[in-house]
Amino acid sequence: MSRPLCHFNDIPEGESRGFTVEGMALFAVKKDAELYLYKNECPHLGVNLEWKEDEFLDLDGELIECAMHGALFQITDGHCIAGPCQGESLKPLPWKMDDGQVYLL
Ligand code: FES
Repeated sequence: MSRPLCHFNDIPEGESRGFTVEGMALFAVKKDAELYLYKNECPHLGVNLEWKEDEFLDLDGELIECAMHGALFQITDGHCIAGPCQGESLKPLPWKMDDGQVYLL
């Protein structure tokens, strides 16, 4: 099995964390004790989303926000609900947890 991204408890509730695996940027958000993993690529221009390291959420922590032009995405399904790529979605990534460690599949 490949190396874990992190321990499930390493990401506090309501926060996000960026990772790079074999050159691919991805990020995780924990909301309501669930973890959501997405490729770190805005559907608008294909850039990374965060405004600074590990900061992928809007001020309220309710939506994922692209720092480039402010597109807003639902945390639970990556769907863009506002901004230049409205109607498109972030790419969800499959993962699994083993002994508390989070692995990208
Ligand atoms: S690049 Fe993300 S909203 Fe434009």
